[in-house]
Amino acid sequence: MSTTPLLETHGLSRTFPGVRALANVDFRLYPGEVHTLMGQNGAGKSTLINVLTGVHQPEAGEILLAGAPVRFATPLEAEAAGIQTLYQEVNLCPNLSVAENIFAGRQPRRRGLIDWKTIHRRAAEVLADLNLALDVTQSLDTYPIAIQQMVAIARAVSVDARILILDEPTSSLDDSEVSRLFDVLRKLKASGIAILFVTHFLEQTYAISDRITVMRNGEREGEYLAAELPVQTLVAKMVGQQIAREQLQGEAEAPPAAPQARAAEPYLSAQGVARRGVLNPLDLDVQPGQILGLAGLLGSGRTETARLLFGVDRADQGAVSIRGKTVKLATPRDAVRHGMAYCPEDRKKEGIVADLSIRENIILALQARRGWWRTISRARQRELANQYIAQLGIKARDAEQPIGLLSGGNQQKVLLARWLATEPKLLILDEPTRGIDVAAKFEIMDRVRALCAKGLGILFISSEISEVVRVSDRIAVLRDRRKVAELEGHGRSEDEVYDLIAGGRR
Ligand SMILES: Nc1ncnc2c1ncn2[C@@H]1O[C@H](COP(=O)(O)OP(=O)(O)OP(=O)(O)O)[C@@H](O)[C@H]1O
Ligand SMILES: [Mg+2]
Repeated sequence: MSTTPLLETHGLSRTFPGVRALANVDFRLYPGEVHTLMGQNGAGKSTLINVLTGVHQPEAGEILLAGAPVRFATPLEAEAAGIQTLYQEVNLCPNLSVAENIFAGRQPRRRGLIDWKTIHRRAAEVLADLNLALDVTQSLDTYPIAIQQMVAIARAVSVDARILILDEPTSSLDDSEVSRLFDVLRKLKASGIAILFVTHFLEQTYAISDRITVMRNGEREGEYLAAELPVQTLVAKMVGQQIAREQLQGEAEAPPAAPQARAAEPYLSAQGVARRGVLNPLDLDVQPGQILGLAGLLGSGRTETARLLFGVDRADQGAVSIRGKTVKLATPRDAVRHGMAYCPEDRKKEGIVADLSIRENIILALQARRGWWRTISRARQRELANQYIAQLGIKARDAEQPIGLLSGGNQQKVLLARWLATEPKLLILDEPTRGIDVAAKFEIMDRVRALCAKGLGILFISSEISEVVRVSDRIAVLRDRRKVAELEGHGRSEDEVYDLIAGGRR
């Protein structure tokens, strides 16, 4: 490793009204290394990146690029200096084609005209490096969110840069995509590029990192060589000693079995529900007081199942009954009327309203269900918002703060609060802990479990098999758009589920 950092900060500070997002942070990034930032939601990771790349200006401190002081007034200036960044909230244009998204702002031209042939060929090449074969002329929004994330990654890695910054690029990806991404990162690293990476996944951190900087409450807690930092120590440094001990103990213990392990009648029962080209006929029962986990790879039909059951997409076969009575779930409104709620995976597109306050975002679904003419009183709104801020540990100044100003993980918690506030009978959670830090993940799922014990039925979708195994009472395994197995959830090993997912191909 060379002795001069390529990028270095001294005493970097930045506050926002009521928050010290960065406090006196020293950081260094060397050429040819992968350096991972870790820390709880709101610790200041994205803020550090934003200050490094000219999105925000620091109030104090300096930034050195290859030893020389720099200050970027805009992200474009940082890009021009060779810093390529994939920000946490992926900023692509859903209506443009895949190829246009990869080359937006830097289209190759021939005699003044955009050279589409070259763009399409090069886009396909870049994606091939990530082992993806997409129709690059299709508009981006025809692809699922994980693929969109891969396109954003393709864009970032296809630019010649000295420094590559990736803020939670893997939050929606499955293991196979992650390993392709890591292959590409290793190649870039070998060519001397410095990579700054952010993730909440501990395994990924150890798989790819040379060094780890831990952030806590806006401060740099420390910098470590990954090989010399045991995982328990890392978690302890992220959350603070006290909590860490409880955390790790919690992890060791199996979750308590639901008291009413087998309810008499399922809340929702699906028989042969299908949609041509989307999902093969599927049977599913969700019991009150139970968590049914859906495990499967990207494209196995997890989200498709959720959308059919909630009436977002129409099933063209099969029947659904609620408490034993056949019902028609043709629209989400029908589903809501039958006590269902759906927390979708794409918080930006289907979830948060950035300009509205935390309070307004939380009461949105509840208000919609009651009907807009029966307004919930201000006092009650505040009470609800404060209750969920406390319960889910949402890090915010107060309930009136616009949700767009929260860190990614905290936005996700608000979205979860929105659906919990409707007090549904059946809750569909699609990747509810996406972008949520390790400690908060346990807290949130414990909270969900507690609701479950009061009779709520949950359909739980997560690409993290460890999480599915840990929280589910039953696990339905999907492969190639059909259900291939259903297991009793308690005491399952991850490997068992992985084998079913892979269908002997592992
Ligand atoms: N533009 C802004 N205005 C006000 N507060 C902000 C703004 N950007 C960030 N913050 C606050 O600064 C703190 C640090 O946020 P940051 O986004 O850096 O966290 P993070 O470590 O990236 O968390 P996550 O893991 O959830 O992405 C949070 O309390 C956040 O609400
Ligand atoms: Mg962040």
